[in-house]
Amino acid sequence: CRDRVIAPSLLAADFSRVREEVTRAIHSGADWLHLDVMDGHFVDNISFGPAMVQAVHETNDIYLDVHLMVSRPDHYLPRFVAAGADLITVHVEADHDVGCTLRKIQEAGCKAGLALNPATPFSEAIPYLAHVDLLLCMTVVPGFGGQAFMGEVLPKIEEAVRYREEHSLSYHIEVDGGIDALTAARCAKAGANVMVAGSSTFKAPDMAAAIKSIREA
Ligand code: DX5
Ligand code: ZN
Repeated sequence: CRDRVIAPSLLAADFSRVREEVTRAIHSGADWLHLDVMDGHFVDNISFGPAMVQAVHETNDIYLDVHLMVSRPDHYLPRFVAAGADLITVHVEADHDVGCTLRKIQEAGCKAGLALNPATPFSEAIPYLAHVDLLLCMTVVPGFGGQAFMGEVLPKIEEAVRYREEHSLSYHIEVDGGIDALTAARCAKAGANVMVAGSSTFKAPDMAAAIKSIREA
């Protein structure tokens, strides 16, 4: 029901040539760029922060989908807004007043996303769904790229679609983790429309072909 969006994850790019990598993603047909922010506390890995978002924002023109895997997203929010994020996604499992954080994101002029870890039930998102632009159903335990897709998340996507219809809402449904042409097809069938893909795009021999195969899956 919504257009398919392909969002390559910068985490899988060559960090020694970030500008060229983002340009390559754009020329290969990326719709959005997904930026994974990890604080070494909410997840067991450290990636990059607002300076990276700002560097990408200043050197390339693409929609920036910022995924905050941090314990205190409300505290860091203003820095990502200032850095040029278009959409900011926060986890329901993090330590914050979720409704308040989502409101602050939108008041700052950004789109707001809410993320659920694979083990978190759909019901945890329900109180906020009238106020989100995107629901992210993680298809791996967050923290690292290159992990295997968890098919057990598919029923959650179907629940999110049903709820959206029943309540006349319009949020995007995004999937993230282990997405390639095969798993994207399963997610699209369940009702997801935003496909985050790191390894299967940046590390593919032909990025344009990889993005096309996810788009057409
Ligand atoms: C996982 C991140 C993902 C990751 C996806 O914690 O949120 O965005 O970069 O990487 P792949 O596509 O390689 O699973
Ligand atoms: Zn992500």
